[in-house]
Amino acid sequence: MTTPDSITIRRPDDWHVHLRDGALLAGVAPHTARQFARAIVMPNLSPPMTDVAGVSAYRERIMAALPAGTDFTPLMTLYLTDHTDPDEVERGHSAGVFVAAKLYPAHATTGSAHGVTDVANIMPVLARMEKIGMPLLIHGEVTDNHVDIFDREAVFIERTLIPLVKALPGLRVVFEHVTTSEAVQFVESAGANLAATITPQHLHINRNAMLVGGIRPHAYCLPVAKREHHRLALRKAATSGSAQFFLGTDSAPHAKHLKEAACGCAGIFNAPFALESYIRVFEEEGALDKFEGFASEHGPRFYRLPLNEGTVTLERAPVTVPDEIDVGETMVVPFHAGETLGWRFRP
Ligand code: NCD
Ligand code: ZN
Repeated sequence: MTTPDSITIRRPDDWHVHLRDGALLAGVAPHTARQFARAIVMPNLSPPMTDVAGVSAYRERIMAALPAGTDFTPLMTLYLTDHTDPDEVERGHSAGVFVAAKLYPAHATTGSAHGVTDVANIMPVLARMEKIGMPLLIHGEVTDNHVDIFDREAVFIERTLIPLVKALPGLRVVFEHVTTSEAVQFVESAGANLAATITPQHLHINRNAMLVGGIRPHAYCLPVAKREHHRLALRKAATSGSAQFFLGTDSAPHAKHLKEAACGCAGIFNAPFALESYIRVFEEEGALDKFEGFASEHGPRFYRLPLNEGTVTLERAPVTVPDEIDVGETMVVPFHAGETLGWRFRP
């Protein structure tokens, strides 16, 4: 099979990213803004972004952290808690402050301690979101200690997602960072109100990457990478051309020393080489013609936002990912550290 020397696509967006705050924000946000026109920014800061004032102020900090003239639009999200007020949700959405709201089951992942303990507690909020057409973004894992960590996504579908879409069929839901064949099947069977983001790491690695030959904290993120057959199902979904699947890196930087620790943080920093990582998957799957849809078209259509103007190019060239990246106050180990990827990004 021959591959072209370069590929030019409409400017892409990242539909799931952690830009952090403070000094780390200034160090990581330019990596996302370099590759993507817009990004859905996660609200799991400490304290979490739970109201209009907090989210607007965070948006200002993001813009202030980027070099002057950067052409990047952060799309902000609200962090749902057991106490979220439906009126605050509607107020922020109609004012254009938040594009979507994020449901973290309490204690599912980094920064989720204030998340929702039972979806029943936020049904009035979700009903309002259904009414105003505001997307709900879900971290889809149960947190029940009796459920094996590798099964937590599949169990969440049965226990929470299926009843939720039955109760609120008009609610538009993004099942974030899917990691299992069960999630792929569920999304495909659910119809156009349901979509899913897929990260580069879940397309490239299975759980062996974390555990074979030593414990490798830089391959650890949540939801955790699963068995090989799940990875293959994700690759098929991402490269299928289905409008229900789109790009969301879940780039989640943590300082190197906080990953390489007795209790290492969950999260993989993939923003600096995100497009180079994704396009390799599309090339390996013989689906380069499906890359633009996944990266630049399916997301805006689901969110009912205009497609971006302008283009970016990826050209065939060996690019070696550094072992670590200086993000100002600290070093972070990026996804693919030390590997050579076959494509170079050109804005
Ligand atoms: C994310 C983080 O560090 O904020 N970590 C991760 O492993 N993906 C939280 C999340 O998206 O689950
Ligand atoms: Zn995330």
